[in-house]
Amino acid sequence: MNEVHRPVLAANWKMHKGPREAASFMEGFLNLHPPARGAIVVIFPPSISLVAARHAALARTDIEFGVQNVHTRESGAHTGAVSAPMAADAGATWGLAGHSERRHEFGDTDEMIGRRLAMLADSGLRPVLCVGETLEERENGQLESTIRRQVEAALGQVPQSRQESVLYAYEPVWAIGTGLAASETDASEAHGIVRDAVRGTLRSGGAPSGSAGSATGDEHITVLYGGSAVPSNASDLLAAPGIDGLLVGGASLEPESWAAICAARG
Ligand code: PGA
Repeated sequence: MNEVHRPVLAANWKMHKGPREAASFMEGFLNLHPPARGAIVVIFPPSISLVAARHAALARTDIEFGVQNVHTRESGAHTGAVSAPMAADAGATWGLAGHSERRHEFGDTDEMIGRRLAMLADSGLRPVLCVGETLEERENGQLESTIRRQVEAALGQVPQSRQESVLYAYEPVWAIGTGLAASETDASEAHGIVRDAVRGTLRSGGAPSGSAGSATGDEHITVLYGGSAVPSNASDLLAAPGIDGLLVGGASLEPESWAAICAARG
């Protein structure tokens, strides 16, 4: 894990927990998780539950909230969609783009993901770009090319002045929800590829000096790992080189297991 920065522990609830359940989760979790434990804790509820979850944690400025997905536009005739400025208005300070379920279930293309990422950044949210290969891509030797394509296509659409605000989550598709987490070695290797792809994209766009694109800029590129992270593997993953935090699905749904992950040390 990066020595300078606090680890980011992010809970992706996906399509779980309506407003009441979200509020009662927060009560349970906050009792188990004392403030200021050293990590940045971010919760991504379904957007309909964002306000309720945040309201239940108003006394706790150490807990942050995010939106799981946003439309590529600010507002308009887009039935069923939520925009980044609306999420910010509801109290979100973070946003995901490019989660593999968006890519595979909803058909989000690299191009759309880049526009969502840019919208998050434009709206002052901290964008997290999710990337990762399928099992087939890994077995075909396409790990690196897949990650490079996903990073370049999305980050390339974020205005240069905002590119540094982007964080990354490496989430191999074969590890999501399967109980089969990547090994620390495989995750570290992939995180290196993500960083390299980010540096390459920033360089080709003429990154500002001192930014993530500079030769010594690694400290600005935060990469989380996601995919079957659970209390029993969280500390080892966090201790692995280049892993700056975790993006957790299933194990973030119960206050006990989420609190255990938030207490994990790298
Ligand atoms: P998982 O999901 O922890 O349930 O594998 C991670 C994610 O999809 O972000």
